[in-house]
Amino acid sequence: MKIIATENASLSIKINGGKITKDGKEENIGPKTIYLCRCGGSKNKPFCDGTHRSISFHAESAEIEIE
Ligand code: FES
Repeated sequence: MKIIATENASLSIKINGGKITKDGKEENIGPKTIYLCRCGGSKNKPFCDGTHRSISFHAESAEIEIE
């Protein structure tokens, strides 16, 4: 799994599929990239909704590879 902290934006995670549980509801998802909020401003946490742009969030980029 690879996690990319995009400069001034979200954490993107490429997944092979699985389940997401949010508000007590489970959702099966196929392979995709999900974007998680790290600015704290999203109204759709844990997912990024683009709010980081309007609050001028600043953070460095980074990559984490997990085997
Ligand atoms: S990182 Fe995008 S809304 Fe927080």
